[in-house]
Amino acid sequence: MHRRHFLMGTGAAVAAAPLSGLLGQLAGTGSALASSPKVPMAVARGPRQILSLNRGWRFHEGDIPFPELLNHEETYENAKAGISFGAASPAYDDTGWAPVELPHDFVSFQRHSEKANVSQGYRPRGYAWYRTTLRFDESDRGRHIELQLDGISTYATIWFNGTLVRRSWSGYSAVNIDLTPFITYGNAGNSLVVRVDAQSMEGWWYEGGGIYRNVRIVKRAPMHIATDGVSAHPVKRGDGWTIPLTVQVNSSAKRTMLVRLTAELTGPDGKILTRGEATGSVSDFDSITLSAPMQIANPQLWSLETPTLYKVTTRLWENGALTDELETEIGFRTQRFDAEKGFFLNDRPVKLKGVCIHQDHAGVGTAIPDGLLEFRLRRLKELGCNAIRCSHNAQDPAFYRLCDRLGLLVMDENRCFNPSPDQMAQLEWLVRAHRNHPSIILWSVFNEEPMQGTEAGYEMVLRMADVVRELDPTRPVTAAMNGGLFTQTNVSQAVDVVGFNYQPKDYDAFHKANPAKPMLSSEDTSAFSTRGEFVTDKERHIASSYDDEAAPWGATHRKAWKEIATRDFVAGGFVWTGFDYHGEPTPHTWPSNSSFFGIMDLCGFEKTAFHIHQAQWVDDRPVLAIAPHWNWPGKEGQPIRVMVMTNLEEVELRLNGKSLGRQKGDRLEMNGFLVPYQPGRLEALGFTAGMPVARAIVETTGPAKALRLVADRPQLAGDGIDAQPIRVEVVDGQGRVVPDAKPMIRFTIEGGRIIGLGNGDPNSLEPEKGDRRSAFNGLAQVIVQSHPGTSGTLRLSAEADGLKPAKSTIAIKPDLGPAYQPVFERNIFTLGRWRVSPWSATPLDPTAGLADNDMNSWSPYRSGSLLPAPDRAVYVMCAITIEPYAGIQRAGGTLVFDKVTGAVEVFANGRRIGARTEAAAAPLSLDLPPATGKQKIAVLFRVQPGQQYGLEGAVRIL
Ligand code: GAL
Repeated sequence: MHRRHFLMGTGAAVAAAPLSGLLGQLAGTGSALASSPKVPMAVARGPRQILSLNRGWRFHEGDIPFPELLNHEETYENAKAGISFGAASPAYDDTGWAPVELPHDFVSFQRHSEKANVSQGYRPRGYAWYRTTLRFDESDRGRHIELQLDGISTYATIWFNGTLVRRSWSGYSAVNIDLTPFITYGNAGNSLVVRVDAQSMEGWWYEGGGIYRNVRIVKRAPMHIATDGVSAHPVKRGDGWTIPLTVQVNSSAKRTMLVRLTAELTGPDGKILTRGEATGSVSDFDSITLSAPMQIANPQLWSLETPTLYKVTTRLWENGALTDELETEIGFRTQRFDAEKGFFLNDRPVKLKGVCIHQDHAGVGTAIPDGLLEFRLRRLKELGCNAIRCSHNAQDPAFYRLCDRLGLLVMDENRCFNPSPDQMAQLEWLVRAHRNHPSIILWSVFNEEPMQGTEAGYEMVLRMADVVRELDPTRPVTAAMNGGLFTQTNVSQAVDVVGFNYQPKDYDAFHKANPAKPMLSSEDTSAFSTRGEFVTDKERHIASSYDDEAAPWGATHRKAWKEIATRDFVAGGFVWTGFDYHGEPTPHTWPSNSSFFGIMDLCGFEKTAFHIHQAQWVDDRPVLAIAPHWNWPGKEGQPIRVMVMTNLEEVELRLNGKSLGRQKGDRLEMNGFLVPYQPGRLEALGFTAGMPVARAIVETTGPAKALRLVADRPQLAGDGIDAQPIRVEVVDGQGRVVPDAKPMIRFTIEGGRIIGLGNGDPNSLEPEKGDRRSAFNGLAQVIVQSHPGTSGTLRLSAEADGLKPAKSTIAIKPDLGPAYQPVFERNIFTLGRWRVSPWSATPLDPTAGLADNDMNSWSPYRSGSLLPAPDRAVYVMCAITIEPYAGIQRAGGTLVFDKVTGAVEVFANGRRIGARTEAAAAPLSLDLPPATGKQKIAVLFRVQPGQQYGLEGAVRIL
């Protein structure tokens, strides 16, 4: 094996790792996708292997046009499996392409351009290509090998070994491809090519572009649990609970097999609580669904406060041998939407205090490491939010696992409203892939569709809802409607729960007209604010944070929630939005490039709206906060509007120790004071039953003196995957954040890497990559990631002119991370598609060619197998026309035959470059001289009667 060309991914992971780890990964024994410390990953044991394919890719930005095919031979070949042209061809020279790791949002690397699309955040999009070369060991032969891509934006075309294996029509659904029939085992490279069309758009927000979610190879036995084939969401029946477990079994075993399914339910303490079993028979290339329901009397419930998870382990057996195993996390909880009383979880009323989110974050666009995703969801928990709407598309698989663990409810949403086959497949995928997550309470089939008030829209939803209910009869179907609610035939009649986008004025009228129909606000608010700003300045694209500004179709945070909070029949609402997101800078345009809607900014730093919602939503702890900051030089003596946000009974405000009065706490409108400005300390005291229980302070700060770095977590896993945001604070001499400081900050890092930067300013045109970023109103953010295979310390330093620099250290814990699919470090020129001549009594001329239109005189022949023995002594020629990579054309190379059987002479463009007289199978290496352009390689066999011969192994140029 030529190891030097091998294993870029594994090699990188292994740089500082123990040898046993390397060998384990090489031999493919490291089967489980290791968990990062914070984020649970899918777990698989037994014969199943899950291998990350995030490393070892080569990337080209821009499109590469396909060559125009003019002659007959190429036109004929173009129509065949295993043959593709241009950059889709296995033989394409990608030597100069940039190495990249996934997840990769190439659009996030683009500089803003006024000419680019406003909704997508003024980042040029376009096309891109990704290529990698996989190696499958002989021992992989006979396994079922699936490629899983969690998300490619926007559209994608995928080739494997020259065969077009998939066209993907959404950047939000996973693409799973059975590669098994196309694989070449051993040393031949397996070419995987993805062409991305990110010029196309599916949304009106920033969507990123490229292979922006994880990619993996899953190796299973031929008879295995189908991808997303387990359905295990528990239901309560009477006093007890049933897990109506069904398992789809797929087989490509080439024979009928008797299969036994066993299932176990494991409790949170690791004890097995009950078991299920079923048997069946599955024939080749068929699929059966086995059912093994399990009962349990008194499970611990999954709730927002205590999101207890159980585990269902499903195993398939044939003749006592384990063939596949999968663990699925589940949660026991009931849910119900009541038309009068709203939503009930475990028979307790829960008002949905929700936010809509898009998936991107500052610095990294849509390529969000799990550690950062977890930070975002934790921030939402702190907000007091209990529900998330996946607007307007499926999120990364880790999102749902985290919501299960953190206790967040999810309204999952389909992207494309269309019941025709390609799009219906996306909806089916959504439900199959997510149905076991206890966090999910609603399936939304669309957002704001112009056909919502028509008969056609109604008919379309009927069909889509039917597909959803077939796959999951337990959760209601909804649609987010921004109109059409009162037409004679409309979508509200086809869904279980009606989603209102805005239109609070119609809540009562609709409820009156449809008293039996549960409803909620699927989207509301759309208020504008800029973090840390308290004066609206339309010229400068700044929106005050006092919660006064909203889109004409929306309302302020306070007004929108009041409409919902005061009506029991509205099950709750989803604020547009939890976080600012790239794109849709409404109400502004250039240079504004990210949104103003967030309760938090693009970095997850809180705006005033954060405290407003805490005051509205948090019941289990005191909330008390003051806006604005208290730096108003030049405004001495002038009244400053002060907003106090509290969930307490009473609040008192004091300036420099002097009381400014006491008010009854107002959780809906917030408390307001007009305070003549005087620098110093503004203090709020919150009271319950007359007793002070909370205090909040804002102080006039001195000038900026220093920087401070605040890590989100003290540790990172040294797997090259784990990442976290570090908050950068600009502070005065007493360590207080200076609320208007905007210095340019430079960063240096050791023992890790910076993968993105941000500051939450929606008008900033600074790049989000690199090593510098200005602060915005006292804050900035750096997202750091470990290097693969490392341990020790990550050190981030920050410096700015005139300020005391800061350092942050993060412990890097040794963690090999997942096992990786072996890939070749660079593409290997492989000679695979040969033609073989008829038997000839005399040697054939190595320069002789076939007519362009002659497809049949010589047969197609793929290296890797032997040719049939003749009954007499003959000559046979195998020939191939190649165009070696530019480097090989220039300098020549080594033509390596892994295994030749038979005596041969080898010619390059008619020149003899080597020969072998023995007939026994053996490797052969020959110098290939430099030559410009195409070359014809011919192998002339001299074959004895009864002797098999051929190019048994891979043929490559090294
Ligand atoms: C809604 C839409 C959202 C977002 C929002 C801005 O109509 O559903 O995606 O565009 O408006 O206010």
